[in-house]
Parts: sequence; C-alpha cells; structure tokens
Amino acid sequence: MSANTPYVLVTGGAGFIGSHTVLELLTQGYNVVVADNLQNSCAELLQRIKKLAKIDSLPFHKVDLTSIDEIRSIFSQYKIVSVVHCAALKAVGESVRRPLAYYRNNVTGTLNLLEVMIENNVSDLVFSSSATVYKSDPSGRPFKENASDLGSNSPYGRTKLYTEQIIHDVVSAESGWNAIMLRYFNPTGAHESGLLGEDPSKVPNNLMPYVAKVAVGKLDKVHVFGDDYDTRDGTGVRDYIHVMDLAEAHVAALKRLDEKRGYEVFNLGSGAGQSVLEMIKAMEAACGHPIPYVVEPRRSGDIDTIVCDPTSAEKELGFRVTRGLDKMCEDLWRWQKNNPDGYNTESS
Ligand code: WQD
Repeated sequence: MSANTPYVLVTGGAGFIGSHTVLELLTQGYNVVVADNLQNSCAELLQRIKKLAKIDSLPFHKVDLTSIDEIRSIFSQYKIVSVVHCAALKAVGESVRRPLAYYRNNVTGTLNLLEVMIENNVSDLVFSSSATVYKSDPSGRPFKENASDLGSNSPYGRTKLYTEQIIHDVVSAESGWNAIMLRYFNPTGAHESGLLGEDPSKVPNNLMPYVAKVAVGKLDKVHVFGDDYDTRDGTGVRDYIHVMDLAEAHVAALKRLDEKRGYEVFNLGSGAGQSVLEMIKAMEAACGHPIPYVVEPRRSGDIDTIVCDPTSAEKELGFRVTRGLDKMCEDLWRWQKNNPDGYNTESS
C-alpha cells in the first residue's frame, strides 16, 4: 500500500462488535487499521480475520486510547480518512463498582481520539453507542431516537451518553465534521464461519454468551433473573440483533457520512422482542439438547421490556436486519461448539 492509501481506523477492532465490523469492511473493499488494547480480546482473532478476508496483512496496533501519543503514532503512519470507534469497557455491573475506570477509558479515550482526529483533519466518525443511553421505560414501547428519552442509569451508560454529547459538540464546533451514533440494542450471534464470536474474558454478564457456555458444558445452568416481569412469560424481553447485521450497519453508516449530514443518531435493532426463556428455547433448537436453567430474583436495574423502533435506520440508512432468531442461535452455537474456550486455543 502507498502512503496515500486511505484507511478506516477501527478502535476496539479486536473486540466482539469491532472484529465483525473489521471483517465486513475488508469484505466490502475498505483498507482497515485495527487499534485495540487487547484487554478483552487477543491477537489470534486477527489471524482469523485475515483468513476469512483472504488477506496477508492487516495493520494492527496495540493501543491504549488514554495515551494520546499512542493514537498520534497511528495517524502518523497511515492516511486515516475515517474512524469507527468501538473501543470501550462495557460491563454495566462493573461500571457501578469502577466508575472512574469507565470514565477514563471510555470518555478520556474518546477525547484523545477526537483531539488527534482534529489535529489530522479527519472529520468522519461512526461511534459505537448503545440503547443503554435511554431511560428505563416500564411501558415497553419501542424506543425511537428521542432526546427526551435519554438518561442512563449506569456509569457505563453515562459514558456512552456523555461521549455522544461530546461528539455532537465537536461536530458543531468544527467545520466539515460528520458523525453517526449507532445505538445497539442487544447484539448476539457470530460470524457464520464459526471462527469469530463473542469471547468474554470472565464469566459472561450478558445472557446469550452465558447461555452458549451452558450449552457447550462450560457452565452448569442459566440463571434466569426474574420471571415476574410484565411480559409474555414473565422473563425479560430484549431486542436481539445479529452481530453481522450490526457490522453491515456500520458500513452503511460509513457510506452515509459521504452525504455530509453532520451529526446523526440511529437505533439498531430488529423491532421485535424475545424473552429470556424464548432465547433459551431457540438455543436448545440450535444445539439439539436441553439447556438447564434456574429462576432467581431479578437483577437490579433490569426492566421488563426494551425494544427498538428501527424505522429511522431503515428510512435513512437503508438498513434493516436480515438475520432472525434461528440464524443468531445457529451461528452462536457453531462459534461456541468450535471454540468452547473462545480464542484461547491452547486450553482446548
Ligand atoms: C438480557 C436479558 C436479563 C443474564 C446489556 C447492557 C447494554 C448492552 C447489552 C452494551 C435481561 C436477562 C441476563 C443472565 C438473565 N451492552 N439475563 N440471566 O441487560 O439487556 O443489556 O447488554 O452496550 O448496554 O445493559 O443485556 O444480556 O445482560 O440481559 O436472565 O445471566 O437477560 O435480566 O432480561 P441487557 P443482558
């Protein structure tokens, strides 16, 4: 590649969403530089991306975004023309215990990234945000991108909310900036090859990686947090979206930036909701055997139903999910069955 080759920088590109987005970008012909601190991922994953993308080299830099000079070093080596910013700590419960670590990593890291983008006249950004920026609404109505619904109840969610607002202020202050916030609902699934997937470094906080670990025998049973919610079967309802649908949405957003529309926000979800028990049942169909579970008290902070109104992303981005519940579970099961210990291939 020449010094003038344009690159997309993907921060957190070795993470769950980031890695699938990197693969989709490569598949669609983009040149990608991956930056990741490898705190919740590993270099093996990058080998697999190269194999799937059929490329010999993939620029990777182990970078801590809280060090602005490490970010500067990347921009000095490549002609970065746009950024997909996925790097973040994302465990809600952990953020309550370690708020400063979350503000430092997620907010200060983004401030550094934005500073270096401005220094290098890079003004196109896609930001990995989350439905967690919304206030809990017990009515269960589908969420639109309404500013009046903003107000997270966790430090993690607030890092995403504050980062969105910081980016909005930069777009207002700087000429020519375009930024798109993608508010994910509940990502799950895996690349259909079975080579890429979610690999939490500790016991999974989220439902589906936990269910997958029980299905493959690494954990003994699913703990269902409450069955007394006001839902079809009493268990929590969420809007699950296949990670490859999410990856495709990132590329659609990157293309949308060329239309120079300034600051935009899109919810990413299916618009449908599934309960915990329905997800367990769908995973049983995928793996072909029962998945044991026990019902326990509610997890603090959880609410009955959180689903997306996907109409804005459909109308403006031309994006809609194409992978349903069965595909999510089939792909998740293939990943977990082939990689019972995640990317830690030595231990399997
Ligand atoms: C889903 C449902 C639980 C685990 C979180 C973050 C959000 C986003 C997605 C990053 C709920 C139930 C869960 C378990 C269970 N992440 N559950 N047993 O809480 O909707 O969203 O992940 O952006 O920011 O808040 O996802 O997967 O934790 O829970 O019964 O072991 O499964 O009560 O109803 P959640 P989740």
